[in-house]
Amino acid sequence: MNPFLINNYLSPDYFCDRESETKTLLDNIHNQSNTVFFAQRRVGKTALIQHVFYLLKKKEITSIYIDIYATQNLKDFTNQLANSIYNIFPENKSMSKRFWEAIKLLRPIISVDEISGTPQLSLDITQNKQFEKTIPQLLHFLDVQNIKTVIAIDEFQQILNYPEKNVEALLRTSIQQLKNVHFVFCGSNQKMMHHIFNSAKRPFYASTKNITLQKIDSTIYAHFIKEQFEKHKFKINTNDIELILELSDSHTYYTQRLCHEIFANGIKTITADSILQTINHILLDNEGVYFQYRNLITPAQWNLLKAIAIEHKIEQPYAQKFMYKHNLGTSANVKRGIEALVEKEMIYYNTGVAKPYYEVYDKFLMRWLQYK
Ligand SMILES: Nc1ncnc2c1ncn2[C@@H]1O[C@H](COP(=O)(O)OP(=O)(O)OP(=O)(O)O)[C@@H](O)[C@H]1O
Ligand SMILES: [Mg+2]
Repeated sequence: MNPFLINNYLSPDYFCDRESETKTLLDNIHNQSNTVFFAQRRVGKTALIQHVFYLLKKKEITSIYIDIYATQNLKDFTNQLANSIYNIFPENKSMSKRFWEAIKLLRPIISVDEISGTPQLSLDITQNKQFEKTIPQLLHFLDVQNIKTVIAIDEFQQILNYPEKNVEALLRTSIQQLKNVHFVFCGSNQKMMHHIFNSAKRPFYASTKNITLQKIDSTIYAHFIKEQFEKHKFKINTNDIELILELSDSHTYYTQRLCHEIFANGIKTITADSILQTINHILLDNEGVYFQYRNLITPAQWNLLKAIAIEHKIEQPYAQKFMYKHNLGTSANVKRGIEALVEKEMIYYNTGVAKPYYEVYDKFLMRWLQYK
């Protein structure tokens, strides 16, 4: 089996580090606090939640995970919540009976998901007023089971896109009343997450503990990479591991992906050449997507993106030197371009460090732009 996972979590054996974040999350859960964390895309938010849930299994704490990225409104949210509770409780007979009694009042419809074959529950609710009651009811149901439960809501910033305007207040009020149910909120849009949790006028303000999730430390990652390869009798030296981490910028997904492909090649002695060949192969496979990106933004934005890629990290995009070197026009042009690229999530503004900087979000795209 390829030990470098690229789209799921299996067990601690395949999971690198995150020790302090894991400990903080577990401590918060044991101390009845809700936690929020934001991190850039593909750095390992979902995997961290799954890792914590894996460890909670042994502690008799029920864990519920919902990803609300695809939800459009309060109805979708309520259905996701109901559905995930339903999927947890059939395992426990007496519990599911009680769940059913509570939920019968909400006229549930059970269907089978065509792709996964798992049963899906949806509630036949048409009035907004009904939703406002359903969420507190579902949470109250969990709370009175006298079982410690953690609900992780992934891509939580999505609630800001719902047409209903009172979602934050509704959730905050229901959550506040719970004794046995606690929450982990996580999201990848920095601005929106900040808006929900750090604005003094908004319902969630000061209601949660924050953690930050940065990239995995490269020394720790290097150790992990060596160990995973060596377990399978691959040979790799320290310099070549450094090369991998440099190419992937130590960003979790890109590191995993590059290692995954190197492993998949099956050549037991890894060299700098074979690493470079592998990344070229990945970039070639993605080229179609990169050309599509180019069609989605203006030529000026594309030039700016390329300039940022070449610089790798840029602290002061409005400095004459940068604008002049890359022929980017006026600072007003650059300002507009930066805003558009941040909005489209083509570049990322890392403010979680002493000296904030801009960088291309997708690390493989960054390499491709540099090589072109
Ligand atoms: N600590 C880790 N050790 C090893 N692999 C990891 C680790 N964290 C994440 N991964 C792997 O990296 C990939 C990206 O992680 P994940 O999906 O958790 O990121 P994410 O931040 O939730 O991304 P997105 O913003 O796209 O939802 C996954 O395939 C996962 O298996
Ligand atoms: Mg995720």
